[in-house]
Amino acid sequence: MKKILITGGNGFIAFNFIKMMLKTDYYIVSLDNLSLSGYLNHETINIKSDKFEFIKCDIISNDVCELIEKYRFDAIINFAAESHVDKSIHSSNLFVDTNIKGTNNLLTICEDLIKKNILSNDFRFIQVSTDEVYGSLTKTEPAFTEYSILKPTNPYSATKASADLICMSYFKTHYFPVMITRCSNNYGPYQYPEKLIPLAINKIVNNKKIPIYGNGQQIRDWIYVEDHCLGIKKVLERGRLGEVYNFGGYSELTNLDIIENIIQIMKPNEISNQYIEYVEDRPGHDTRYAINADKALNELGWKPLHKFSDAIDETVNWYMNNNEWSQNIMQTDQYKNWMEKQY
Ligand code: TYD
Repeated sequence: MKKILITGGNGFIAFNFIKMMLKTDYYIVSLDNLSLSGYLNHETINIKSDKFEFIKCDIISNDVCELIEKYRFDAIINFAAESHVDKSIHSSNLFVDTNIKGTNNLLTICEDLIKKNILSNDFRFIQVSTDEVYGSLTKTEPAFTEYSILKPTNPYSATKASADLICMSYFKTHYFPVMITRCSNNYGPYQYPEKLIPLAINKIVNNKKIPIYGNGQQIRDWIYVEDHCLGIKKVLERGRLGEVYNFGGYSELTNLDIIENIIQIMKPNEISNQYIEYVEDRPGHDTRYAINADKALNELGWKPLHKFSDAIDETVNWYMNNNEWSQNIMQTDQYKNWMEKQY
């Protein structure tokens, strides 16, 4: 059975990926520094399976070397990242540490272990990146392909672009077996309530207004998290070394559309305006992201399987049925301090 290390296993996308992989024939080791420990998602570390282990460790630490050496993983999927744009605007230090130095640390360790034949010839490293590395589009420009230039606009996306470039340099210089995935905005279960969709659902549950930055006309391409996870699995099993694969939901919506959709599901007979509050815009707010995922379709046979209208319904229901999960996070000092600072 192949052994896979999932870094950042306590996070939203990684945890959904772990859940999917445990239904198949892989042994999963999940690693997380629990930096969002106030947001500790107990389910992610207490999975009862003889094919799963959780280890508390930081990708930037030296301990990670011993761990990789001990398990001799067949693959590492680097999900570990600080990922909230607004937080990176307040302070970018942690983003540089985790996203750039952490990735570099993993690459250096793995390269050394490959040279020593401790990691096998078939070893694979997947860097989970983001469409945000491409920067922003106008409303009429064509969607980003894997060959679009990298033009990140905020500290978060700049650190992710840096990590991507370091990964590619390892491929060119050492023929290091890396592949990069770049995905659009994810939604689904277990997303931290500081992000737009869970934030909106929880505001409505608590009869509060949803803060919309600026005029709410910014466009994002939304993908259901399970579709993204399937794409990563395909890259793991069939991707070509040194390649980048884009994933997107083919579901471009303005922030206002998203919010109105959610209000419609939760409060069908009410006027949506009463749940909306326009607040100061995010500095440097990207206007539009859109992904062309033809390469994933042509090479990997991947396409998103979920329609936005169905999956958003499922997502809203999940948050309403698992309100305690969100409330536990929202009651932490970490979350309260963040909300006070930001809004
Ligand atoms: P977010 O979920 O933070 O993802 P990203 O910035 O990486 O795309 O935000 C999605 C969009 O929603 C983005 O355009 C910013 C906007 N937004 C708001 O209008 N209000 C909010 O309170 C938040 C968190 C986001």
